[in-house]
Amino acid sequence: MAPEIFKGLKDVYLDTTKSSFIDGQEGKLLYRGYNIHDLAEKSTFEEVVYLLFYGSLPTQQQLQDFDDTLRANRRIPDEVIQVLDLVKASHPMDALRTGISALAAFDPDVNDNSEEATIRKGIRLTAMGPTIVGAHHRLRQGLEPVAPDPNLNHAGNFLYMLFNEAPDEETNKLLDVDFILHAEHGANASAFGARVVASTLSDLHSAVTTGIGVLKGPWHGGAAEEVMKMALEIGQPENAAEYCRNILDSGGRIMGFGHRVYKAEDPRARHLRDRSRALGDKVGQPHWFKILTYVEEEVMVPYRSRGIFVNVDFFAGSIYYLLNIPDDLFISIFALGRIPGWTLQCMEQYDDNMLIRPLLEYAGEMDLEFVPIEQRT
Ligand code: CMC
Repeated sequence: MAPEIFKGLKDVYLDTTKSSFIDGQEGKLLYRGYNIHDLAEKSTFEEVVYLLFYGSLPTQQQLQDFDDTLRANRRIPDEVIQVLDLVKASHPMDALRTGISALAAFDPDVNDNSEEATIRKGIRLTAMGPTIVGAHHRLRQGLEPVAPDPNLNHAGNFLYMLFNEAPDEETNKLLDVDFILHAEHGANASAFGARVVASTLSDLHSAVTTGIGVLKGPWHGGAAEEVMKMALEIGQPENAAEYCRNILDSGGRIMGFGHRVYKAEDPRARHLRDRSRALGDKVGQPHWFKILTYVEEEVMVPYRSRGIFVNVDFFAGSIYYLLNIPDDLFISIFALGRIPGWTLQCMEQYDDNMLIRPLLEYAGEMDLEFVPIEQRT
């Protein structure tokens, strides 16, 4: 009897988790039991990373110590900067993947997969990721990398290393929230990729490198960049209907809509929607939000009955754009936010490991006669 095929592993439970809870029908997301809305409104990225790694919210002292450790671990070895210089012509996600991979050569815990060592490495990768992206961005412009500033928080320091200028408080908070919203999301494709690596008892650097590679695709982390490209091509709200119709009628997809798990609105989207509107008004460019709203509230309404709503990426691109972040850096920002989530998924995998090795039903030919090469025509 033919085996049942679960294409794309859709609706397949791989294991249990204490990382995040997702109710796709309700549009509910919890990290370690805490609602994403509370975390987005009341927390900081540093606090959320602590929560993900240790499973509970920190006291003030614990958060202070943890933040100090993150700040103290931001510098990357000169050798890694040299590697980034060699690959400076590459896409920022390729540079991040290469940089994280290169960091393995300098990490004293690289082959230690104990929980303590995985947290130490997770802290280092979380702290150093922005330095890699910042250094690569400077190098590709022919500029010197900007050294991390220990006086700035995680989000503020990242923007400082990109632009050589510390952001204002509002911009800083905007990116902080964005990092919180991207920090963890269960067995999504990139986390699954990272778990497959961990399941062979390979190391965290390999797993995070894999996560970055998986995230890069436009059906995963690449959507934010595509959404902003779409908004730029649409140009004016009145062009949106025809533009989207052309895509949809030819069997294409509108980026930033739909999700494998959410069949209601992605709960992360609302925080970015509000902030995209506010930022557009603040910088005198409200039309991007109008275009996106038109796509959401006019063009894509019929898709709601099929469970297709905006996802986290729909408004993210417009925020990055309005912050003057080049579009090829959008996915890297998602990746920087997600490093703690990948780390947590690997911690869980190491903790109760079983090799992840699904099956494929063979659909090819059988028992063919091997013809020696000289007799083949
Ligand atoms: N626009 C138009 N139609 C869509 C879209 C969309 N964005 N998403 C899904 N559909 C349609 C799809 O064409 C298919 O139609 P049909 O049944 O007629 O063939 C149906 O909905 C089901 O699609 P699917 O690909 O089987 O569903 P999935 O659960 O595998 O898709 C997805 C999930 C994210 C790949 C898909 O919704 C998509 O391609 N969205 C656009 C890319 C995007 O925004 N990605 C970011 C995801 S959120 C961030 C992250 O965590 O990665």
